[in-house]
Amino acid sequence: METPLLILNFKAYPEAVGPRALELARIAEEESEAAAKAVALAPFIGDLAQIADGVDLPVLAQHCDDRRGGSQTGWVPPEAVRAAGAAGTLLNHAERPLPEATLRATVKRCDALGLETVVCATDTTAAQSMAAMGPTFLAVEPPELIGGNVSVTSANPRIVQETVAQVARINPDVHTLCGAGIKTGADVRRALELGTEGVLLASGVVKASTPRHALAELLTGFET
Ligand code: G3P
Repeated sequence: METPLLILNFKAYPEAVGPRALELARIAEEESEAAAKAVALAPFIGDLAQIADGVDLPVLAQHCDDRRGGSQTGWVPPEAVRAAGAAGTLLNHAERPLPEATLRATVKRCDALGLETVVCATDTTAAQSMAAMGPTFLAVEPPELIGGNVSVTSANPRIVQETVAQVARINPDVHTLCGAGIKTGADVRRALELGTEGVLLASGVVKASTPRHALAELLTGFET
């Protein structure tokens, strides 16, 4: 996926599942095209194939398991994520954490299958061990700021700068993002100024009264 990048996580918000998921995905595709800025979508797993088929944006699973396809009721094997048309997957989101050994094995399996990985870290220390796993992206997201109205870029710019520096030191091929509380174009611009290559966000768009306007405004943060 190209950078700078805005990843819109649909989570399991009622505003973004089922038929409303495709509506939101189409809005994101139109605003990404209008702004000529890269947007990727992370819909609820039940909507993944429909969204991957319905819009021309990279689509990510919100999670996948270190399981092979087959008799795996209720699990999410990477092979099935790829078959659904996804370009990759989030992993270890604060709302869906994984044990470190499982995370390492899952990143490896996704890589072998050509799936891009966006590994989430709650702080800089966690980000260091995760950068060594070689994900495509590393997103630092302090859990206490997730879903709130104060952006990580203003509440704790140091964690963003430190994570960028440590990830670059450990694995310069990994692209660093940040997330949590990002709501405005100014927050996005600040994320780039702090050295990241983009943002991971959810409620600022999904729960906005007009998601289209909210996304368009966020994308102004990528304007040079
Ligand atoms: O995956 C991104 C998400 O955890 C951030 O949530 O609502 O603070 O943008 P939000």
